[in-house]
Amino acid sequence: MKIHSAEFTVSAVAAAQYPSDGLPEIALVGRSNVGKSSMINRLINRRNLAKTSSTPGKTRTINFYRINNAFYLVDLPGYGYAKVPVSERRAWKGVVERYFRNRRTLKAVVVVLDPRRDPGELEGSLYRWLAGLEVPVLTVLTKCDKLSANRLFNRMAAIKKELGLDEVLAFSSLTGRGKVDFLKKIDNILKADPA
Ligand code: GTP
Ligand code: MG
Repeated sequence: MKIHSAEFTVSAVAAAQYPSDGLPEIALVGRSNVGKSSMINRLINRRNLAKTSSTPGKTRTINFYRINNAFYLVDLPGYGYAKVPVSERRAWKGVVERYFRNRRTLKAVVVVLDPRRDPGELEGSLYRWLAGLEVPVLTVLTKCDKLSANRLFNRMAAIKKELGLDEVLAFSSLTGRGKVDFLKKIDNILKADPA
């Protein structure tokens, strides 16, 4: 798949604000600061369409990017940032779970992980929760440029084992590694389950 157009559509909290054109959606979920927004920018070759920051917790709403006028990449707010107060963490859970529960146009969930970090309790419950949704889940390890080839190989194996996954995809928003493979997967998912 080639991306020939990308536009920011809406920043939403409530379901009433989500796009209503019925296009299929691919949602990215992961810890705060893991690199979700950077991944979207790399995929669409725009430096700053999706807002990124070295300050965790930058994306607090659900941001929809319409790609090729054919589907949406959905940037969900990051979880697990320790400095966020409990009340706000609950609000996050509400916003994200509401999106997942009611979104009939959701075709796949992309879980974005940092390969340097062992999956923890939060990841465990995220995967258990996603298993109940009946949509394909794709796991992407981003910031791969930060690891040597050897270490990345070992970390990929360890994370697959830990989470019981058949496959994880290596990605880097800095170098563009993994972009072609990722877009191929998305393309296949969209073809298998058109809106
Ligand atoms: P929230 O919006 O807080 O949930 O964060 P996010 O997951 O959207 O992360 P974001 O894309 O804002 O990236 C966080 C930081 O990591 C930024 O400083 C990015 O420049 C950096 N970063 C993201 N992806 C990569 C990558 O592949 N390689 C390297 N070296 N840095 C990256
Ligand atoms: Mg973000």
